[in-house]
Amino acid sequence: MKTEDSKKATNEEIKARFDNDVERFSNLESGQQTTIDAPITMELCTEAAKYINPHAKELLDIGCGAGNYTLKMLSKIPDLNCTLNDLSMPMLERAKDRVSAKTSGKVTIIQDDMRNLDFPDNHFDIVLAAATLHHLRTDVDWEFVFTKIYNALKPGGSIWISDLITHDSTKINSLFQDKYRAYLETLGGAEYAQKVFDYIAYEDTPRSLNYQLALLRKVGFRETEILHKNSYFAAFGAVK
Ligand SMILES: C[S@@+](CC[C@H](N)C(=O)[O-])C[C@H]1O[C@@H](n2cnc3c(N)ncnc32)[C@H](O)[C@@H]1O
Repeated sequence: MKTEDSKKATNEEIKARFDNDVERFSNLESGQQTTIDAPITMELCTEAAKYINPHAKELLDIGCGAGNYTLKMLSKIPDLNCTLNDLSMPMLERAKDRVSAKTSGKVTIIQDDMRNLDFPDNHFDIVLAAATLHHLRTDVDWEFVFTKIYNALKPGGSIWISDLITHDSTKINSLFQDKYRAYLETLGGAEYAQKVFDYIAYEDTPRSLNYQLALLRKVGFRETEILHKNSYFAAFGAVK
C-alpha cells in the first residue's frame, strides 16, 4: 500500500526493515538504543499501567516488536492474556516465544497494520504502544486508531504510549532535533546520526505531545497523563 505521501516508506518497506532487525529489539535491559531514555519510558509506562489497572487480565501490545513492553508488563502483573500485534512476522514469532515463557495466560499474535485491528468493545484492560504510532500518516489515521483503541478498552482501562514526537513550534522542534542528533553522535558518530535521521525522514510521521494528548481527550479518554519527556521522545497515556 502506498501512503498518501508518496515520498514516505510503504508498509512493505517498513515490514522488510523490521523483519531484519529482530535482535536489536530483543534486549529487555536497554530497550531500543536510538530511543532516548528507553529503559525509563518502558519502566514508567508499565508501572503507570499497573497503578491504574492492578487487576488487569487482558493486555494489547500494538507494534510489539520482539515483546519487550509486554515482558516488562508481565514482570509487574503476572499471567496476563497477551494480544501481540505487529506488521513483522519474525518480530511476532520472537515476541510469542519470549512472552509465552513468562505467562500462563493466552498469547495471541496478529500480523497486520494497526489500522486494521478489529476487537470487541470493552475488551482490554491495558494497551501499550511503544515506538510505533509514529508510523501513522494522516490526521484521519491517528484519530481512527485512537478511537479504535478507546473502544477496545474497558471503562477504567488505560493506554500507555512511548514514542518519538515532534514539537508544535518549528524553532523548538529544531532545538530538540539538534539535541537528538548530538545524542545519536555519542552512540555512533555523525554518519550514524545522519543514517537515523534519514530513516526517520523516510519512514516516520510523528506528532507532537500536545497533538496526541488533545486527540486522546477528543476520542473520549477522561484523563491524560505525561510520564516523561526528554528531547525528541515522550511517554504518556490516558485512562478511559
Ligand atoms: C521501533 S519498533 C518498536 C517495537 C517495540 N514496541 C519496542 O518498543 O521494543 C516498531 C515496531 O512497529 C511495527 N510497525 C510498524 N508499522 C506498523 C503498523 N502500521 N502496524 C503495526 N505494527 C507496525 C514494526 O514492525 C516494529 O516491530
